[in-house]
Amino acid sequence: MPPVELRKQALAILCLPHLDDKIAHTLAMKDALIGFEIEVDPQAELSAPQGVILPARPERPTWVNHTQVARRSPKTWVGRAALIHAIAHIEFNAVNLALDAIWRFANMPRRYYVDWLQVAVEEALHFSLLRAHLQSMHRLAPSAEDVPPQGWDYGDFPAHGGLWQMCERTSQDVVARMALVPRTMEARGLDATPLIQAKLRQIGTADALAACGILDIILRDEIGHVAIGNRWYAWTCEREGLDPVAHYAVLTQRHEAPRMKPPFNRTARFDAGFSEAEMAWLDAQA
Ligand SMILES: [Fe+2]
Ligand SMILES: [Fe+2]
Repeated sequence: MPPVELRKQALAILCLPHLDDKIAHTLAMKDALIGFEIEVDPQAELSAPQGVILPARPERPTWVNHTQVARRSPKTWVGRAALIHAIAHIEFNAVNLALDAIWRFANMPRRYYVDWLQVAVEEALHFSLLRAHLQSMHRLAPSAEDVPPQGWDYGDFPAHGGLWQMCERTSQDVVARMALVPRTMEARGLDATPLIQAKLRQIGTADALAACGILDIILRDEIGHVAIGNRWYAWTCEREGLDPVAHYAVLTQRHEAPRMKPPFNRTARFDAGFSEAEMAWLDAQA
């Protein structure tokens, strides 16, 4: 894919159905990010090519309703593989979400597009780390009964499309997108990750501890993603003369956002820029 304007490039990558192509092209944009060689046209009004349903995605995994995703104990090999697969799926979706934030919303400052490019690149890295871990797990358990000899790969378990649903619901409104994708759905990851890590540490096997290490990297980067969401939510609220706390409540109702459940990772959320007033609002809802 020749280098083109960033928003067009993001749309083109979102339209790639092949998994390896999508990840490789996203990771390739890292060089542009480092070299600041990015052409951005904030004014362009873009639309998906006819006949392409976004996001173009690989045939596997099968996307199912979240109630159809089997819950397995992470104490078993297959349970841990399913857990890593589920997190990899979130990261794969997060690549799509970041690319979508770039192409879809016109008339934002250049920094907005560059911020979301950084998110897209980091999500592709998170996905790659988890996929490599998933692919390597069977080598640590050659004799376990529930491990297929060829191991696992992304696509081997069904996955749900909840994250993309929120992307669709907010496709007409950048304020809602910033409110409900990074600073709601991604912020839930800040809360959930330490709990998953605690479970994996308790299991204590080599693969579980390796997964904890990957989750450390993810948690560190995700604080940055939520911070980017907070920055642009505040900016768009100011542009439109909206009160950020009051309008968030309106948006969660309008778009049927999932309820935030405690315990909240307060340290990570404050690091990501949530205010005392925003945390007090969340506490009051819980
Ligand atoms: Fe991520
Ligand atoms: Fe993220």
